[in-house]
Amino acid sequence: MAGVKITETVFRDAHQSLIATRMRTEDMLPIAEKMDKVGFHSLEVWGGATFDSCLRFLREDPWERLRALRKAFKNTKLQMLLRGQNLLGYKHYPDDVVEEFIKKSIENGIDIIRIFDALNDTRNIQKSIEATKKYGGHAQGAISYTVSPVHNIDYYVELALEMEKMGSDSICIKDMSGILTPYVAEKLVKEIKNKISVPLQVHSHFTSGIANQTYMKAIEAGADIVDTAMSPLGMGTSQPATESMIASLESSPYYPDNIDFDLLMDVSDYFKNLRKKYEKDGLIKEKLLNVDVRTLRYQVPGGMLSNLASQLESQGAIDKFDEVLEEVPKVREDLGFPPLVTPMSQMVGTQAVFNVVLGERYKMIPKEVKNYVKGLYGKPAVEIKEEIRQLIIGNDDIITCRPADLLEPELDKLKENIKEFIEQDEDVLTYAMFPQVALDFFKYRQSYKYKIDYNLLNEEDKVYPV
Ligand code: CO
Repeated sequence: MAGVKITETVFRDAHQSLIATRMRTEDMLPIAEKMDKVGFHSLEVWGGATFDSCLRFLREDPWERLRALRKAFKNTKLQMLLRGQNLLGYKHYPDDVVEEFIKKSIENGIDIIRIFDALNDTRNIQKSIEATKKYGGHAQGAISYTVSPVHNIDYYVELALEMEKMGSDSICIKDMSGILTPYVAEKLVKEIKNKISVPLQVHSHFTSGIANQTYMKAIEAGADIVDTAMSPLGMGTSQPATESMIASLESSPYYPDNIDFDLLMDVSDYFKNLRKKYEKDGLIKEKLLNVDVRTLRYQVPGGMLSNLASQLESQGAIDKFDEVLEEVPKVREDLGFPPLVTPMSQMVGTQAVFNVVLGERYKMIPKEVKNYVKGLYGKPAVEIKEEIRQLIIGNDDIITCRPADLLEPELDKLKENIKEFIEQDEDVLTYAMFPQVALDFFKYRQSYKYKIDYNLLNEEDKVYPV
């Protein structure tokens, strides 16, 4: 059998997990030529939170980044993470926006699109899979992994089969919280591999300290590809370390083909130095590097733990942290056991904070939670109990169709809105994702002199130089 393949995540998930997605393009390009020759199956470089972070914090055009990376990586496939009908934003987009976004992603250099839905509602990934294939990309259907009374092996096998039938070129088990344990992974991979004929990839996080062992069992059980991150930005809430994972496979039939380990060590040195720079900037938070076993109990992904802490800090209620953590699984159960991944992790987290801080459950309910209960995000794996539904939306109607069927095309309208700022076709998509942030960015772009940290300003101070 051929060795396992490696997807390197240092340019997407690793820095999203450890340094709040702050890695700059200028820090990626100098090492590209070497990385391109290591022999990775693919590099995850785009999507997830990188798009938002580029615009909001780094003042970079995410499309420029993609084009620069494409130019730099002549041999290695480039991969992105896409939230199905939510694309890279936090709401459902109409089909015309989804199709255009995917077309442009592929045109600008993406080869593989990993597509997931937070509820595993396949109606929410259908359009993205279709569009990816239409424009010549590789569509990877991703299962959002969680544990609940209904999320068992049979459920995931069915889901994988359905994704394959929908046209997925490969399937990914996406364990964003690092809760997939080794022997469950072994069984899960075996069962899925028995049923599907496309490659199977495993994506986990080191958060709870078990992902190395999980990968080993998954690989032995037949996983074709695993996701790892260069060690200076690996482990903690990030992926298992690339160098260590590859070394662990030595003298086995699983050792990856065509990996240049010496070159990999050079690449590792580069990131060691880069890490020092981000450490100096105060971006590497100690608590994200430690093993956190709470994730096994609460299923809270690493990023969500730190979000919860900062939400509570800002409300002067950090002493309620443990209580909120206990509340998270209860809210999750109330809401039909959604996997805790964007945007569900934010909804469940915020609701848990409200429930605890206000001293009464569901006294205050975010609009997103109401819309979710109304079915506007799709169908939860378990029907929401009548009493909880009543508490959250009263007698409001619940929709049962594919949520995006209710959305009118809006590309033309969006173009019209920003016509004075358009410098490239992609700008309308940037605007569709994050309207306010995009406008701020476009204005900034028109005047490159404006270099101060925009986000530190008060609203009324946000004036633009002419
Ligand atoms: Co991840």
